[in-house]
Amino acid sequence: MADASDDLSDLPAVFRDDVESVLIDAGQIERRLGELAAEIDRDYAGRELLLIGVLKGAVFAMADLARRITVPTAMDFMAVSSYGSSTSSSGVVRILKDLDTEIEGRHVLIVEDIVDSGLTLDYLLKNLRSRHPASIEIAALLTKPSRREVDLDARYVGFEVPDVFVVGYGLDYAERYRGLPSIVTLKPEVYGG
Ligand code: IMP
Repeated sequence: MADASDDLSDLPAVFRDDVESVLIDAGQIERRLGELAAEIDRDYAGRELLLIGVLKGAVFAMADLARRITVPTAMDFMAVSSYGSSTSSSGVVRILKDLDTEIEGRHVLIVEDIVDSGLTLDYLLKNLRSRHPASIEIAALLTKPSRREVDLDARYVGFEVPDVFVVGYGLDYAERYRGLPSIVTLKPEVYGG
């Protein structure tokens, strides 16, 4: 589990006033993604991989993983919207942007920012499995195990986080904070309106 830090000095000034604490800093993310890419390289040696990034939260993890993976890799993206409040999902998922490519017979790795309830990925897995890939696995930068509502097996996981809302490195609150280089929590007044 990640330890929080009150040292905000590395954060861009424009975000600093809204941040409560840094859970995972940019260096930790970089190191962990390097480890995951090495694992992926070993597991997919001799095979071609299709990375499927879930927009928009996974864009940074997707870009940084793809730059480190050395097996031949193609990339595609999906966009989904899950109905629910701004900080939790309901499990009812709508595809806003589908894949450009066919996945039948291919080795698919879904790249996601965070597994929270697991409902979004559960839906995506079922949907993509029905297209008959040769294999399908999940890589998630973050997981909040205490929030899980479905049994979901993510093969590659960056970090476990506690049951708090986090932003940064692709994750947003009301479309803000995605560009933060670290994973942080926000001050309660940011949500207060
Ligand atoms: P799930 O369906 O509950 O697993 O939710 C997955 C999606 O909810 C993620 O892909 C995120 O977009 C969003 N989400 C869940 N927890 C957080 C969080 O702590 N910060 C930002 N977005 C989150």
